[in-house]
Amino acid sequence: MCGIVGYIGDGNAKEIIVRGLEKLEYRGYDSSGIALNCGGSIDVRKCKGRIADLEKLINGEVFDSHVGIGHTRWATHGAPSDVNSHPHCNIKGNIAVVHNGIIENYVELRKWLKDNYNTTFKSETDTEVIAQLIGVYYSGNLMDAVYKAQEKMKGAYAIGVIAAEEPEIMVAVRKNTPLVVGLGKDGNFIASDIPALLKHTRDVYLIENDETVLLTRDNVTIYNSAREEVGREVYRVEWDEAAAEKEGYDHFMLKEIHEQPKGVLETLMRRLDENDNIRLDGISFTKEDLEKINRVYIVACGTAYHASLVGKYAIEKFAKIPVEVDVASEFRYRDPLIDEKTLFIAVSQSGETLDTLEALREAKKKGARILSVVNVVGSSVTRESDDVFYTWAGPEIAVASTKAYTTQLICMYLIGLYMAALKESITEEYYSYIISELKKLPEKLEKLLESEPQIEEIAKKQYKRDSVFFIGRGTDVGISYEGSLKLKEISYINSFAIAAGELKHGTIALMEDDTLVVALATQDKLYEKMLSNIQEIKARGAYVIGMAKESNKRIEEQANDVIYIPDCADEVSTVLAVVPLQILAYYVAKFRGCDIDKPKNLAKSVTVE
Ligand code: M6R
Repeated sequence: MCGIVGYIGDGNAKEIIVRGLEKLEYRGYDSSGIALNCGGSIDVRKCKGRIADLEKLINGEVFDSHVGIGHTRWATHGAPSDVNSHPHCNIKGNIAVVHNGIIENYVELRKWLKDNYNTTFKSETDTEVIAQLIGVYYSGNLMDAVYKAQEKMKGAYAIGVIAAEEPEIMVAVRKNTPLVVGLGKDGNFIASDIPALLKHTRDVYLIENDETVLLTRDNVTIYNSAREEVGREVYRVEWDEAAAEKEGYDHFMLKEIHEQPKGVLETLMRRLDENDNIRLDGISFTKEDLEKINRVYIVACGTAYHASLVGKYAIEKFAKIPVEVDVASEFRYRDPLIDEKTLFIAVSQSGETLDTLEALREAKKKGARILSVVNVVGSSVTRESDDVFYTWAGPEIAVASTKAYTTQLICMYLIGLYMAALKESITEEYYSYIISELKKLPEKLEKLLESEPQIEEIAKKQYKRDSVFFIGRGTDVGISYEGSLKLKEISYINSFAIAAGELKHGTIALMEDDTLVVALATQDKLYEKMLSNIQEIKARGAYVIGMAKESNKRIEEQANDVIYIPDCADEVSTVLAVVPLQILAYYVAKFRGCDIDKPKNLAKSVTVE
């Protein structure tokens, strides 16, 4: 939530910062702004709206500046407005701050500043308190003032700070929200995420919690909370700028849907050796470790939670270990039974989701072993986990998660199979069969993507709907949840997902003439049961879009429209079944004229409770 950027160097600070912000707009997009040091004074330009609105505001303005900071906002304290937009300054206007996170004690600090320094505030934000606080401590040494301010600040923050009197430096701090530093040829950068840096450099420092960074044009020095200098290895980003571009697609979401065969292949191949054994490079999880574990929790939010449901299925089916799955915001507060015999699996694309992170911390505090399934290398969840199982999806920019989800599913299967192999809970033949079915998925995904025009036609017929139901059985239940979430988050249609067998316990009361239902029947084992459920809702007048494997043609007798997925083992059909639902959501949203990559009220990484 919120993206920050900063630059110090020989280049044009305004241009570099605005271009960087564009790459972070997925993190929040209700307002944006920049602050530039122009010859010893700070110029701020900011406004409500998208970065395009900021660009209009500053269009034609020439700033002679080589150091500055920028921000794109997802509002927490104070509604989106010009005055609440970042950057924020102190009263004197000689300090400017951008901030991602939350200052928990900002009310207390506001009062303290008013009572002791007669400070007046312009905005309703917690961030302005940081600027004012640094301002009261500032006497010509920005590093000093930032350290002193930190002693008073409670909460989570990544900040970038500049001072009018010190145009040759920029200071940044990381505490529980992401911050990376880019090492360029003609200057250095700070950012909330790597895509903002890739135009200039692929060499970065991943900043740790409680570290303060001093940047000059030629140098970057990292200090710990005791103000001691700390060393850091340069991390070379594996992907380039093109990977974070649309590459001819209308939207990132569509591009990312099409990248799924590659992401699935990559995630699989990084973990399989030439004999199809699962490699846990960097993870030391032995048979003895597994024997010690008597409880597994998989905890996540949103789409990652839906992947966790498949994780439960895979671990229970293959490794025969009981698993509980929970949404992180609930898990944290329900006093779960955790001890050193607990394995806690956190699933997160961004690795920054606050609820997931806090749930992880809670589990860790009580002694659980932490394994995480994460896409963003070096993110907070990965740093706080004992072991990390990366999803090799590449950068996911669209707010609606697609390729991160399918790669999370692959990780879930691999973790289940790995545990099964350790426990010898499945036969070698069955293990090999599932692995071979997983390995066929990239090709089948390619084939499935060819049905995009057919799904677009279905979307064209249905996009004006007010509500949609998704139903399924077995692993199709989780896929129904995911299809429903995808549709509602980008098209704003009221959608609802339910296990098909549950319909007759209440929800069937809503079925009437022309009610739209997407019915998933991709499991051979449950196919007949699903056909009966479809019959029941058809009898009440529902319009049914059915989904089944291509050999299971009898669904055509029941459903109004049918989408087929390639034949595959029931166990792995999830990876295929979700894709048509992603495409359906995409085209419905497109026909409705929605802002697909940046849906209203949402942000890519949710770093607030
Ligand atoms: O980064 P995470 O995977 O932890 O994010 C969790 C959810 O916020 C995320 O999956 C959200 O539900 C997506 N927008 C869904 O498309």
